[in-house]
Amino acid sequence: MKTSVVILAAGLGTRMRSKRAKVLHRAAGLALVEHVVGAARSLTAPENMIVVTGYQAAEVEALLQPAGVKFVRQEPPRGTGHALECCRASLERPEGLLAEELLMVLYGDTPLLSAATLERLREEQAHSGAAATLITTALDDPSGYGRVIVDAHGPVEAIVEDIIEDRDCDAEQRSIGIINSGIYCFRADLLWHHLGEVQPNPVSGEYYLTDMARILTAHGHAVRALHIEDPAELLGINTRVELADADRILRQRKTRELMLSGVTIERPETVCIDASVSAGADTVIEPFTRLLGRTRIGEDCRIGAGAILENTELADRVIIRPYTVIADSRIDAGAQIGPFARLRMGVHAEADTRIGNFVELKNTRLGAGSKSQHLAYLGDAEIGARSNIGAGTITCNYDGARKHGTTIGDGAFVGSNSTLVAPVEIGADSYIAAGSVITEEVPPGALALGRGRQVNKPGWVAKRRKKKS
Ligand code: UD1
Ligand code: CA
Repeated sequence: MKTSVVILAAGLGTRMRSKRAKVLHRAAGLALVEHVVGAARSLTAPENMIVVTGYQAAEVEALLQPAGVKFVRQEPPRGTGHALECCRASLERPEGLLAEELLMVLYGDTPLLSAATLERLREEQAHSGAAATLITTALDDPSGYGRVIVDAHGPVEAIVEDIIEDRDCDAEQRSIGIINSGIYCFRADLLWHHLGEVQPNPVSGEYYLTDMARILTAHGHAVRALHIEDPAELLGINTRVELADADRILRQRKTRELMLSGVTIERPETVCIDASVSAGADTVIEPFTRLLGRTRIGEDCRIGAGAILENTELADRVIIRPYTVIADSRIDAGAQIGPFARLRMGVHAEADTRIGNFVELKNTRLGAGSKSQHLAYLGDAEIGARSNIGAGTITCNYDGARKHGTTIGDGAFVGSNSTLVAPVEIGADSYIAAGSVITEEVPPGALALGRGRQVNKPGWVAKRRKKKS
């Protein structure tokens, strides 16, 4: 049975009070429309999915390009019915469609939808013989949603007669608690046959897709409601308050999914984990952590309180101590980092490395088993295995105009408070005396001293006192 999916994402979303298209706003790290595309992916292949774009179309299309979906532009957006009409040329075939072909219409601002619910809607529609099925639910506060008028005397209770938009409701209609979720499954042939009959709304001038309920009914076709008891999935985001609600619910789902798959999360209500993050079994996540973007965490890791990890890959048995901030980096097995460390822009900390407090690494590889335990800045550096970088070591990688690299060989010992003026090469197994300023190559195995020699003046203090008196 062929199912096409159309996702409407062309509107600005005035109620967000934003310069950015509503569907681009993020919840749990993904744009609202990305969540909808994700849920629809289980129904059909991406080439059968059309996203209708309009406001900031180029941005929405660039975001969804990797998903492999198709796009249709709606310019300017003139309502949800008009949005669907714009897809006619892509979906209607001149030889006509089969009665079994289904068209699912979703709105790009309902990010909590699950694939299971969409599958259920398709099943209901496929077996009902109705012209369309739409998902309804009951809300305590239905304001903002279209109200669904069902035929109480009809053969089936769930026969829909009409949908009235919130702003068009009279007082009695407004008190109806059953709302239109904006998720529909149509018989594609009947939809295209009758969609042209939708007239602009007399007040707003927009073409409402919801009018299809009345139109199909008037032609003697049944429109059915699939009533869902738990409204949590159906939240449509119109304001930033609803955006925050969706974000919270999606993150709760994420922590629950991780915990059920074997991850311990202490005080899960305090952590902030994007939907795109993964973590292996027996990893422990401490309170107030933020795990963002394409972060992947292995097994048996510990993520300390207050740590922030973004687009970062951790192998197994990695320990991140509290208040460490890492972005766009890779940490190999057994490494221990923090507290208060900062890694950014493509750091690769190899197996069993140690990076301690107030150490910053930028675009640097730290070889297996190497250590930098206290107060250092290592930028644009290639550091070999088993080396020790003393407290306070600084790579001077910037000369005011350009960045330069530092290379440190295996087994090197860089004494505390060393200043390594790049570009510079430090050989394997060499020693650098504490407090050195290194401006020239250090050969392998050598000791380099780059500082003033100490001078002691015996009896100097006593002589000075005598002079004063
Ligand atoms: C819509 C429904 C309402 C339902 C609610 C559920 C209509 C007329 N009303 O109202 O019955 O209860 O959703 O959340 O359909 N869009 C376009 N092109 C347009 C207009 C909108 O692509 O010309 C897209 C928007 O980007 C958005 C979605 O359609 O993703 C819904 O639009 P929105 O304006 O939020 O509709 P609601 O007023 O919430
Ligand atoms: Ca909406």
